[in-house]
This record gives sequence, C-alpha cells and structure tokens, in this order.
Amino acid sequence: MGTSWQNLVVAFDEQGLQSLAISASDAVQSLSRPDGPRSNITPTQLHDLVWSIDICPDSGEELSLVLHELGATVWSNGVAPRDPACVAHLHPPTLIPSVVTELAIAASNQSMDSWDQAPAATELELHLMGWLAQLAGLPSIASGIMTSGGTASNVLALTLARSLAGSTQGVDVLKTGLPEVARSWRIVCSDQAHFSVQRAAAQLGLGRDAVITVATEESGAMSVAELDAALDELKRAGYRVFAIVATAGTTDLGVIDPLAEIAERAAREGAWFHIDAAVAGAFLLSPELRGRLSGIEKADSITIDFHKLWWQPFNASALVIRDAGLFELLRVKSSYLDRGDEIEGMVNLVGRSLDTSRRFDAAKVVATLRTLGRLALAEMLESVVALTQYAGDVIEAQPALRLIAPPASVMCVFDIPGLGTDDIRAIQQRLLARGDMVLGRTEIHGRAALKFTFLNPLTTRADVDRLVAMVLREIPS
Ligand SMILES: Cc1ncc(COP(=O)(O)O)c(C=O)c1O
Repeated sequence: MGTSWQNLVVAFDEQGLQSLAISASDAVQSLSRPDGPRSNITPTQLHDLVWSIDICPDSGEELSLVLHELGATVWSNGVAPRDPACVAHLHPPTLIPSVVTELAIAASNQSMDSWDQAPAATELELHLMGWLAQLAGLPSIASGIMTSGGTASNVLALTLARSLAGSTQGVDVLKTGLPEVARSWRIVCSDQAHFSVQRAAAQLGLGRDAVITVATEESGAMSVAELDAALDELKRAGYRVFAIVATAGTTDLGVIDPLAEIAERAAREGAWFHIDAAVAGAFLLSPELRGRLSGIEKADSITIDFHKLWWQPFNASALVIRDAGLFELLRVKSSYLDRGDEIEGMVNLVGRSLDTSRRFDAAKVVATLRTLGRLALAEMLESVVALTQYAGDVIEAQPALRLIAPPASVMCVFDIPGLGTDDIRAIQQRLLARGDMVLGRTEIHGRAALKFTFLNPLTTRADVDRLVAMVLREIPS
C-alpha cells in the first residue's frame, strides 16, 4: 500500500522538502543503466516487459518500489547517452546542475504562459533570451522565447515570417487565413536543411512544395551560386521568396552555411533571414569556434537548441528574433489569460508562443551557465570538436572506410566502399541489436552512410579507436 496522497503533494515546507530529497535519492538509485550504450533485449521481450507494468492499480505502491520497478524495466533497457558508444544522434549526456534544477522546476511548477502564474520565472526567461540575443550580436530590441525543440523553434520562426509577409501586403494571415497571393510564397533553404522547414511549410498551409531547396557544395554547405540561380529563377517565374533559411550545423554533416553571404541575398530579396543554429549555436560561447558563425548577427531569427551542445535535458530550445516587437504578430488575446489590460511590466509570454502552458526550462539553462561558466562550456565544446576531427583522421587512414566530408563540427559521416544500402543497414542494425553501439545511419546524396555524433566531452581518442575497430569488424570479408 502506498503513502497517503496528502503526503505526495509537493509543499515547500521542511517536511515537503525532506520527502522530495528522499524521493530524489530513490529516483537516482533506480537509475540502473544498461551495461553499454543499450541493453541487448529484443524488441519483443522489451514490449512484453514494459507492458507487464500495471499502469494504474486501484491502490498505489510505495514510490521507492515504483521507481525501482521503472529502473529495472525501463531505465536499464533504455539508451545511455553518456556511453562513448552512443553516437547516433544529437542526443547528449546531461549536466548535473541542469538535472538537479529539473527537480525544482517540476516541484515549483511555474507556468510560463502568464505573468500571474510565473512572475519571476517570466523575468528570468526574458533575461536569458536577452543575453542569448546579445551573445549572437543582435540589437538590444531582440529577445526570444523558449520552445520544446529545434523543430518548434523553426516552425515558430517561419510562422512569424509568414505573418510578416502577409502584413506587408495588408493581410492579417492569422485572422483571415492565407490570401490568394500566398500561392506564390516560397521558402528557400539548402538540400541539407532540417526537415522541420518542410514541416513548417506544411503546417502553415503553404504546403511542402513551397520549400525550394538549393544544392550544396561538396562540403555540405549551401552553394551561394546555386542560391543566386534559384532566386533569379523564382523571381522570373513570379514567385515571392518571403524567407531564406540557413543552417548553422546541418544534422548529418554538421556544416555551417555561408551565413553572411546568405544574409546579403535575404536583404536584397526583402526576405526574412532565419538561421537554424540548433546544432552550432553553442559555438557562440567559444572564442575559438564563434568565428565560424560570422554573419549570425544579421539574422531576423535564430534557433538555438540547449538540449544539444549545451548538454541540457530535453526540452530546451530557444527562438530569438531581431525585433521582439514582431511577436505581436502572433498574439491572440484571451479573456482569462492574456487580456492586454495588465499593469505595465506584467508580460504574458503566451503572446510569443505557440504553446499555452509551458515549462520553466530557462531555469536549468541558467543554473548550468552560472555553475559551469562560459569558459568551461567553451572547453567542452572545443574538446568534442577536436575529438570529431580526430575521428575523421582515423577514418581517413582506414582503406576500408571512406570519409564523406571533413568533419565540420561534431559529426563524422562515412561509408564503406563496395557495400550497398542493405549491407550498411545490416551493420548498424547488428550493432544496435547486440547493444554494442548506437551508431547513426543516414543518406548523403542518395548513398547510405554511417555517422558518429560526438557529444560527450569525456569520450577519449581510445574510445574513438575502439568504435572504428568495432565497425571494421562488422564488414563482411
Ligand atoms: C539542424 C537541426 N535543426 C532542427 C532540429 C530539430 O531539433 P529537435 O529535435 O529539438 O526538434 C535538428 C535535430 O537534430 C537539427 O539537426
């Protein structure tokens, strides 16, 4: 029989805090993790194990037992992002200050939609957004909003861009819907841009066909010559390019598009210039790496994911925009929430967001930044970038492997000459099934490839050598 419910409501008195501390310690003890990057349990065994949990018994159990059950069934059969062989995705190990702050975020449960549910939290989120905008070199009128991820930030940016395109033609798109002329609206990005650009176009009622992709150079960066050609062609055909999206850190190759040159084209076209810096936005913290983002200060909006190279637990992303006044384009007043008659200074962030209730994720980011400081974060970033460079060298030195492009940030993509898509898939699937490695698999220019993504600053060169050797052992002789 579990504890009475009265004792399970979080209260910030001494007793409440004590039970919170005990529960936190139980939770930590339950964090049994797989031995390696994931356990080798089969999908069917996993299904049966997890579905054997009695989700809602009539009478509850002790929290410590429940947590240990979750540990034995779920955590231990999950993946371990901090394992050096967990290298498939932009899925980082997390930092202690952020994990600890998560508990306070949940316990205090501020809701970021309105000032009357989160007065100080609203100010802290705004403070963080102002700091981030300044770090990117945007003017003082810039600010932003936290979102659930890079996808949500990109959708929000393009929603704003579309609303602005409408308003310059005298149409309030959010009120009256898309005008006839919207059939000619286009978004331009590279063929390596994240699929959320397409998703945004679909959600915005423009359709995925409204996204025109520009070919990339060998390196994986957007070709400016191709961009110019595409813009000329679109103009000739009577289309209006209302947004150009550059990527700072593409998902597969980690490449940064030529931001300053693209900014120039966007200005010439009168298009909104969005930079998806979900991946490489963190480079702003490092004196050694920030030069690679030259031109970012020209953006109208920037996506930065804290839950990638800032080592935050999901969810934590930001969209910063050059002119925070443009958030007004999104605002929908409501009689119970954002009434518009508040005392000056009471900001309701719901007016900037596509969400209503929203987590106070800004707190964990601030706790991390203040605890580690910029220099430590810069050192961590520089070390994962250097490690990826090393992995590129190791792969290049292997005649059996072929590096697709020199590593540009934290990804190393390679294929295996002589092996086709099915063989590549089999290698990745075997390593995953055995629980030896969570290895990335993707397609570059229509060819199957394998991918290492290095996000763990504790991963060593010896680990890299071991990972490469593991892949080599899988190649059929
Ligand atoms: C360049 C880029 N943008 C956006 C996203 C989407 O981020 P999220 O998974 O946080 O929605 C990703 C994800 O990997 C990405 O690589």
